[in-house]
Amino acid sequence: MHYFEYKGDELHCEEISIAEIAAKVGTPFYLYSHRTLTQHYRVFDEAFSPIPHLICFAVKANSNLAILKLFAEMGGGADVVSGGELYRSLKAGIPPERIVFAGVGKTREEIAYALKSDILMFNVESSQELQLLEEVAASIGTNAKVALRVNPDVDPSTHPYISTGLKKSKFGIDISLALEEYQVAQNLPHIDIVGIHQHIGSQITEVSPFVDALEKIADLVESLRELDLDIRYLDVGGGLGITYKDEEPPPPKEFAEALIGVIKDLGCTVILEPGRVIAGNAGILVTRVLYTKRTPAKNFVVVDAGMNDLIRPSLYGSYHSILPVKKLPSAPGLVADVVGPICESGDFLAKDREIPEPEMGDLLAVMSAGAYGFTMSSNYNSRPRASEVMVKGGKFYIIRERESYEDLIKGEHVPDFL
Ligand code: LLP
Repeated sequence: MHYFEYKGDELHCEEISIAEIAAKVGTPFYLYSHRTLTQHYRVFDEAFSPIPHLICFAVKANSNLAILKLFAEMGGGADVVSGGELYRSLKAGIPPERIVFAGVGKTREEIAYALKSDILMFNVESSQELQLLEEVAASIGTNAKVALRVNPDVDPSTHPYISTGLKKSKFGIDISLALEEYQVAQNLPHIDIVGIHQHIGSQITEVSPFVDALEKIADLVESLRELDLDIRYLDVGGGLGITYKDEEPPPPKEFAEALIGVIKDLGCTVILEPGRVIAGNAGILVTRVLYTKRTPAKNFVVVDAGMNDLIRPSLYGSYHSILPVKKLPSAPGLVADVVGPICESGDFLAKDREIPEPEMGDLLAVMSAGAYGFTMSSNYNSRPRASEVMVKGGKFYIIRERESYEDLIKGEHVPDFL
């Protein structure tokens, strides 16, 4: 579900023509629909309304301040994985008591920053991290609220790069060692155990891996309670998938009902860390056709957005639907690779895609780019990063300016000897 629709021949975002925005802000740019974001958040939130819960949006999916602020105003929090994400979340006005901090490589400085900010809890991923957390908390004279991230060893049947809950994954503490680690934590004077965390992967399109993992976690929670541990928060992570092409992920209500069935009797406040399911289909990347090119072997559509703007097709072979911003009436189809300007053969947005044959200057919309789009973009080939725009009703707002050439060299210094 989203509010990117054709009105006549023209693709619109909510009430405004995308071509009109492109004419004003230039291309490429990310475009988000406020109404879609709001609706996705609300539907997800309502799905969990039968139980006490907190939605901590996964900031890595989309970290723009305006978007974080939108969710904060709807009562949401943040799942952060770095000092930078914590900084953004606080700047966006997310109350620290709604922020959870995961990640296998938290530094001493990041830990100190989060402790001083008094966040809701740390999702601890290793024994050594737990010890460092104890040490830093002691030095600051505070206690750290902690959940252990437990790796339940389930296969989420998704791309290997985004599977995180398998036995061989770098994430979390193996479920067979978790009880022991909790007992270690219980004896650390500056650690307050408050919860348990899992996150098994991303773009998961079935309910069963979540249920399997949670059944294991629920058993563990019972054992922890026998040790007198106060497991108040059960953080089930993120991972619910979306439709990019023809996937049929369970709707949030079905997902919530299945999860609630497993965990309702534990009496915990459930924390959810959705990213993609909220933001993915609420954003697109708008790009302009620079050239079309035919070779004896292949057709290419060269556009002004590249793998530095949207790396998902290159990195994971991901499919993103590509639509013309202005429909070409009964245009003949063309099978082509849609490629960017970057000097790498891996720089493509689509491979062997049948699309209406575009002309130089036409605008294309790369759909489902609201999650892990801008946040994974880079300056490779010294390309300034794209602008980000939010539409609300019939108006648009630039929520991040396009970078300039000056931005590209910010902070660089040429030593005197040169
Ligand atoms: N919580 C934790 C601890 C995570 O590591 C992640 C995602 C999430 C929540 C949110 O997962 P989601 O609801 O968005 O599936 N760059 C990849 C996705 C990487 C996901 C990493 N962790 C992509 O573009 O598909």
